[in-house]
Amino acid sequence: MALDAHAFMTTMEKRIGFTAEDKTLLKENADWGKEIASEMADHFYGYLGRDPEMDAIMNAKEGRIHRLRETFIQWFYEMFTGIDDWGNAYADRRWRIGLVHVQIGIGPQHVVPAMATVVHAVSQRLKTDGKNEVLRDALSRICMIDLAFIEQAYVEVSSAAVLRETGWTEGLFKRLIATGAGSM
Ligand code: HEM
Repeated sequence: MALDAHAFMTTMEKRIGFTAEDKTLLKENADWGKEIASEMADHFYGYLGRDPEMDAIMNAKEGRIHRLRETFIQWFYEMFTGIDDWGNAYADRRWRIGLVHVQIGIGPQHVVPAMATVVHAVSQRLKTDGKNEVLRDALSRICMIDLAFIEQAYVEVSSAAVLRETGWTEGLFKRLIATGAGSM
């Protein structure tokens, strides 16, 4: 059940409707993205800090918040540059981010609202700076692709761990999940 991050990226681009025009627009606004990244990090970590569970995770290790601020700024900027034009390097990086969150035990219930905070904060800033709504849509779409990577990592890692531990086949595992869901 190992995920092919490159194929996943292509599928998500199609499914979410992330277009060549979106990419051009993001690249044209990369300097603006860099300029506002620090403010977006403030919104993001302010939001995480107001939730006791997430705040505890953030403060569990010395220097974590500081490190995260830097990685967030980098992550945010990469949405505008696409790293390698949203190619394999971009997909590998997003997959890696997903894996890091699974390792720490950060599930969908944390990540989805956190990404919504980013989308909301960017929308506000776009308005303040008189930026076009088309840019907001392009950014929302790449945020959703990045979110899909983190969510999918959670599913892939959990499934792979169960299969490894039990020796079950993928077919049996899927049947058990379907039966379990049916009985809830
Ligand atoms: C929009 C959703 C999120 C994005 C884009 C994001 C982004 C990132 C990035 C880029 C990294 C660095 C990964 C690496 O080292 O390769 C990271 C790590 C991490 N993130 Fe997130 N994150 C998100 C949600 C969350 C949430 C909800 C939490 C909950 C507290 C969280 C806590 C952490 C922690 C604890 C680390 C590891 C820090 C360390 O190096 O010790 N993240 N995140």
